[in-house]
Amino acid sequence: MKRLRVRGPAKALRGAVRVPGDKSIGHRALMFASLAEGRSTIHGLSAGLDNRSTAELFRALGVTMELGDDYAIVDGVGLFGLSMPRGDLDCGNSGTTMRLCAGLLAGQRFGVRLVGDESLTRRPMRRVVEPLRARGAHIAGRSGPKEGEVYPPLAIAPLVEGEELVALEYRSPIASAQVKSCLLLSGLYARGATAIEEPVVSRDHTERMLGALGVPIQAVGPLVVLDPTGWDRRWPGFEWTVPGDISGAAFVFAAAAMVPGSDVTVEAVGLNPTRTGIVDALRAMQADLRFTPKGEMAGGEPAGDVRVVHRPLAAAMTGGEMLTRMIDEVPAFSAIAATARGRSDVRDAEELRVKESDRVSTTAKVLEAFGVDVTELQDGLHVHGGAALHGAHVDSHGDHRIAMMAAVLGLVAEGETIVDDTECVATSFPDFAGTLASLGADVVEEGAG
Ligand code: S3P
Repeated sequence: MKRLRVRGPAKALRGAVRVPGDKSIGHRALMFASLAEGRSTIHGLSAGLDNRSTAELFRALGVTMELGDDYAIVDGVGLFGLSMPRGDLDCGNSGTTMRLCAGLLAGQRFGVRLVGDESLTRRPMRRVVEPLRARGAHIAGRSGPKEGEVYPPLAIAPLVEGEELVALEYRSPIASAQVKSCLLLSGLYARGATAIEEPVVSRDHTERMLGALGVPIQAVGPLVVLDPTGWDRRWPGFEWTVPGDISGAAFVFAAAAMVPGSDVTVEAVGLNPTRTGIVDALRAMQADLRFTPKGEMAGGEPAGDVRVVHRPLAAAMTGGEMLTRMIDEVPAFSAIAATARGRSDVRDAEELRVKESDRVSTTAKVLEAFGVDVTELQDGLHVHGGAALHGAHVDSHGDHRIAMMAAVLGLVAEGETIVDDTECVATSFPDFAGTLASLGADVVEEGAG
């Protein structure tokens, strides 16, 4: 078993780092390259296991691809060129792989079974199964702990001769880019238009990237419409560079914002406004942030260097649309809140209960272990910040973001911190320990893979 060992309190962190390519953009770039006509090159791709799961899945569907440490060269087969896999399609730990591919594969003339690891097998799939069925897909999952919910594996039966996916108008009860993208991707194969409305705009990478490829897709506020009427259902190969993952960078921002004297720059981070809730939260905490814009990357994704200079922080509140724009950053935010003076609140975050772990509960447990006064709510947390923290021995609960949160808390705690079961960190940030260590932190990863 792997573990992270951290010695605190850390001395000032200093320097410039890069983080792995954005995981959400990487998944989509691999999918769109696989479905393109001709060769695509993706630079800056994360070597994290989640993006690897997507890459291997498309290989199993007959796509030839060369995968390097930070790039992929993909020979696209076109929208109708995927072939039937020999066995199950393994999505590993990646909910994005399973949900988005469920949409893509619902429109094929061959059947598949999508499987995942233990954590993914506990995650809810009704949110995609129901609307896909409503447009004519043959998709089913397993029943499980929650009445009426649908869990992986997902079995998709082929559309037979004469069957087609039909138009869909769907008002999603949750703001979820995975649901929205799943349905838009199924819409690439449908006869009619796909119109999806969300309560709040979730990350919009699918819309931006498909739009950049010439797919007829339009977004007006929380409404997105893909109308394939008159479109030839093709796009050419492309060459894109994936920006750094703001969700991984958030832990570096947190470390720099928390450790006195720090001055750290994360280079070429994705700054898509549907992802920058953590930047707004840090600003609300009065953090010193400086930006150098770097233009647009991968199909219309804004990027820039972000410098964080430590200064004492104040408590802040997140919820509503800001929370949606930082849905994966609540563990990082909560760690920062533990060092900010006053009570910080996280609200409207019930969705976190169905991520890689129940992140409302696992975040609270880890904070408590460090001596933080925290109250767990059904939809969030109250974090009372500013007290002295002591080192702790905690478990990742198999969740990469919980492991990284604990390591960052260890930087400002007195004494040694051990985080057990940290294999999961490799899903999104394989060299997390090395990145913090390069800034001067005493963080090591121990144990065999
Ligand atoms: C993702 C969307 C989010 C996020 C996940 C990646 C995506 O999930 O939590 O890490 O790439 O579309 P939901 O859209 O289901 O909230």
